[in-house]
Amino acid sequence: MRIDVFTLFPDWFDWFSSQRHVANVLAGGSTVECVDFRAATPLSGGQVDDTPFGGGAGMVLRVDVLDAALRARYGVDPVELRSRRRVVALSPGGRLLDEQLVAELAAEPELTLLCGRYEGFDERILEHFASDVVSIGRYVLSGGELAAMVLCDAILRRLPGALGDERSAEEESFSAALEGNPEYPHYTRPADYRGWKVPEVLLSGHHERIAEWRLRQSRERGRRERGEDAATGGGAT
Ligand code: 6GU
Repeated sequence: MRIDVFTLFPDWFDWFSSQRHVANVLAGGSTVECVDFRAATPLSGGQVDDTPFGGGAGMVLRVDVLDAALRARYGVDPVELRSRRRVVALSPGGRLLDEQLVAELAAEPELTLLCGRYEGFDERILEHFASDVVSIGRYVLSGGELAAMVLCDAILRRLPGALGDERSAEEESFSAALEGNPEYPHYTRPADYRGWKVPEVLLSGHHERIAEWRLRQSRERGRRERGEDAATGGGAT
């Protein structure tokens, strides 16, 4: 996986890239490269944004600046670029990130992430340069960088070498093995702490019963999350 992140704050990603699980994946040949789009701006004084037409607070990232930055990096018209690779703009109004979208993006060989700042992107950037507009939740961050890191983390941890134990990615929240439900609860020693006991079945050594219990727990959590009554919700338990 090769990820290019267009940002005004490339330093922010130094910390991210040095975290163990990310560093493991990068050691295997994946890359996260930051492109400071101020470096390619055609405007004087490193200008990248401007006041919004029609008035209002804040500054808006200019479409000509993103055009120049993408062109400098890839040597093609950005309008062409998005038919060759996914160009993902991070914006609070975008498609909500979920495990399905993460899986889809993780299957790509290369990705381009665009981080906005201030009030966000000139709409023409989203319309003509981005293949996807993605949001990590219905709240507003001061920029797309943290959202881009969330997306990178979710993608990179799916790649070989990220997790110590490859099996731990198979049966986890929202996986097919758990029918798209959240993960079952985990426990470790001590088996009894202040009278809070670990469910008996997990100590039984009976693998079949443990697997059944976990799937049941996972389904129950799914029903609860969807606002269904756990006791009467559909499907065999
Ligand atoms: Cl992708 N960007 C910003 N600025 N705020 C957000 C977001 C993205 N996702 C949720 N809030």
